[in-house]
Amino acid sequence: MDDSNVDVRNTVLIFDTTLRDGEQSPGATLTSTEKLELAQQLARLGVDVIEAGFPAASPDDLRSVQRVAQVVGSTAAGETQYKVPIICGLARAVAGDIDAAWEAVKPAQRPRIHTFIATSDIHLEHKLKMTREQVIARTREMVARAKSYCDDVEFSPEDASRSDPRFLYAVLAAAIESGATTLNIPDTVGYSTPQEFGQLIAGIIANTKGIENAIVSVHCHNDLGMATANTMAGLQAGARQAEVTVNGIGERAGNTALEEVVMALYTRHPVYGLGTNIDTTQIAHTSRMVSHYTGLPVQPNKAIVGANAFAHEAGIHQDGLLKHHTTYEIMRPEIVGISQSQLVLGKHSGRHAFRSRLVEMGYEVEGEELDLAFQRFKELADKKKVVTDADLQALIADLFYRSEEIYQLVDLQVVAGRSGMPTATVMIKGPDNADQVHAAVGKGPIDATFRAIDGIVHTPNTLLEYNVHAITEGIDAQGEVTVRLLSEDNGGQVVGGYGADTDIIVASAKAYLGALNRLLVEKASKREEREASE
Ligand code: KIV
Ligand code: ZN
Repeated sequence: MDDSNVDVRNTVLIFDTTLRDGEQSPGATLTSTEKLELAQQLARLGVDVIEAGFPAASPDDLRSVQRVAQVVGSTAAGETQYKVPIICGLARAVAGDIDAAWEAVKPAQRPRIHTFIATSDIHLEHKLKMTREQVIARTREMVARAKSYCDDVEFSPEDASRSDPRFLYAVLAAAIESGATTLNIPDTVGYSTPQEFGQLIAGIIANTKGIENAIVSVHCHNDLGMATANTMAGLQAGARQAEVTVNGIGERAGNTALEEVVMALYTRHPVYGLGTNIDTTQIAHTSRMVSHYTGLPVQPNKAIVGANAFAHEAGIHQDGLLKHHTTYEIMRPEIVGISQSQLVLGKHSGRHAFRSRLVEMGYEVEGEELDLAFQRFKELADKKKVVTDADLQALIADLFYRSEEIYQLVDLQVVAGRSGMPTATVMIKGPDNADQVHAAVGKGPIDATFRAIDGIVHTPNTLLEYNVHAITEGIDAQGEVTVRLLSEDNGGQVVGGYGADTDIIVASAKAYLGALNRLLVEKASKREEREASE
């Protein structure tokens, strides 16, 4: 990356941990391929650092961080229009973790090792069973070990917000002396208030020896709904890196949301006087991608990326908006990549208009993928008079935001009604490329469809969640379905699936099959991992 445009005094570095802390959200398992595709999108979005995972967690995690380092963190990615981000791997302050993190990130052009150890008395006493002196000694030893591998070392005192500040100053000074270049201050349990957190950061900057040679970072959790407010307070106190996740996903109540910090800095620039390197027009697209891949829906009233974030319902508001958008709108939806285009696509629209619309919406679809998407668009336009941007988003998500398709839906027929037995017949192409047909009776048409699929794809699971909603208004609207499944024979793993279609039963079948495919991919990769270690 060319850093010449980065003025450290008023640029906040965006450290994205969607693939690490974000993936720790209950049920948000991502396959290696999905992680790679998300990392590519994060690079397009312009994040400065991608924390790609926790390599010591498993050989599979190590390999997927390595892939991100090779593909997204190398010059090859730099040949495209976005800059090459730093690729970071997380490590506990233990030798094996640091060695694994280095193994994973070393193919990157700009590798970073992020190591952490807890510093609060609660953690020292109950978890680590270590004294403060031992924590300082371990910090020195492990930061130095990381430094022996790479120049860029980040250190985090876990549970910093509940630690004795004087002890924190000493641990951080030891980390700096041993070679740490970024000091990240986590509010691990989301306990802090904005005033306290701002004071903590100010205290660290004022009292830590050598801090002028390091970047101070903030990492907040949202247990009390104050993650963004705490992050902003930390930045106002002098931190210049914010650790965030897309849609705010993460452990428990999640992490600080990337889109909230970036847009707060952008919209209230006179207050903060700080900017980022983010291409804000990629925000909406990235948010949808993360939601579809993780199976974690975005709440409609979520700031910036929720479906209602730019919707105005009250008559007085609509009237004001029509008079001048600034009456009730503090930021234009286009800035975050939500188009307000009046251009309508329909069955007579050509490939060129279709492609241009996708580009305006932030999608880069070329070659065979474009052919496929255009064919789907034509099929949709035959069923729907007007194809809106929301329809196009669903079409892209349905086509591309899915796991490797071990089983593919070929056909589906359902008979349902008030009397009789709802029956579904599915035709599915299996891994051997042969079509199989199975019919089943269920409590309703969706239940019958899922049972029919189960008759071919034998993957025991419990359906935890099923959501359906209409993408647009009108009788011809597409339905969007998300499901979450709990695997019964894959270590209790939870996975999500997504499908969109003008027929909601077809959308449901796609979502269910997508989730089953994801479970099968995960199972296969775990098997490979076991075999490799035997
Ligand atoms: O929340 C936390 O403390 C973390 C650290 C590993 C930075 O995620
Ligand atoms: Zn965290």
